[in-house]
Amino acid sequence: MLGRDLAAYLKAKGYDVATPSSAGFNLLGNYTELFEQVALFQPDIILHAAAYTQVDKAEGAPELAMSINKDGTHTLVQMAKALDCIFVYISTDYVFDGEQKTPYLSNDRPNPISIYGKSKYYGELAVQEHLEMYYIVRTSWLYGQYGHNFVQFVLEAARQGREIPVVQDWIGSPTWTGSLCAMIENIMTSGAFGIYHAADAGSVSRFDQAVRICQNAGLSVDHIRPVLGSSFSAPAKRPSYSVLDPTPLVVPTWETSLQGYLEQYLMGQA
Ligand SMILES: NC(=O)c1ccc[n+]([C@@H]2O[C@H](COP(=O)([O-])OP(=O)(O)OC[C@H]3O[C@@H](n4cnc5c(N)ncnc54)[C@H](OP(=O)(O)O)[C@@H]3O)[C@@H](O)[C@H]2O)c1
Repeated sequence: MLGRDLAAYLKAKGYDVATPSSAGFNLLGNYTELFEQVALFQPDIILHAAAYTQVDKAEGAPELAMSINKDGTHTLVQMAKALDCIFVYISTDYVFDGEQKTPYLSNDRPNPISIYGKSKYYGELAVQEHLEMYYIVRTSWLYGQYGHNFVQFVLEAARQGREIPVVQDWIGSPTWTGSLCAMIENIMTSGAFGIYHAADAGSVSRFDQAVRICQNAGLSVDHIRPVLGSSFSAPAKRPSYSVLDPTPLVVPTWETSLQGYLEQYLMGQA
């Protein structure tokens, strides 16, 4: 979802971008062969947006999640070190446990509560341990044109008149890949290495986000049924509060981004 948008965004901005597919560039493959592919391109920046992202499935496949998100990140970190290039690692709000009740700052202590969250956090540690020229970019509740995501799920259910239970006490910062691309470009050209929280501004519950999605798309909200997170059975635990404080980035509000996305997305559907 993010990688395709990011590649298109950066190409349109004049960057020379190489985008190997997972078929031709499997992070679990032979290091030397992968390194040859990367070295050939002589990158100034390696932007690592690949991951095992199936949060619930990861609970039943911890080794696979760890090998892709932790070891796969370490593989790319080694390459960045060997090629002396800048490294950008996309990470997640799921590195936090959700116990906090105020927006998470980039220097707040991670304490992941799921296999996915742990595997992404270990990826962060690999970056911090071996590199100096890095940007760790934590984002949250992503949606965009490609891949399946919450916004599309809600729109599909509304169109089909299918009732969906949506959690009313999980609070986060929904973020459009479109606005995240601009944030990533600003970060990776800043020269101020370190950890960033890159999310659209503000916070909302999943339920209120679903209602806003339908209202903005001119669809009925009758099919959205509020439920408590405690009654929502899923294999992986989620942080009930994972709002990211994007300071010092200047970012749009989640409402502005949602409207921008819907205008683009619904126009494509017309
Ligand atoms: N989605 C969210 O809500 C969210 C929130 C916070 C942070 N993030 C982070 O943002 C980044 C992008 O997420 P996304 O939602 O765009 O993910 P996505 O749509 O699931 O894309 C992940 C990509 O990683 C590739 N990949 C998986 N295993 C690989 C391997 N072994 N070797 C090479 N490539 C591999 C996948 O390729 P195939 O499809 O070919 O397998 C896919 O293209 C990730 O780091 C994720 O952890 C996402």
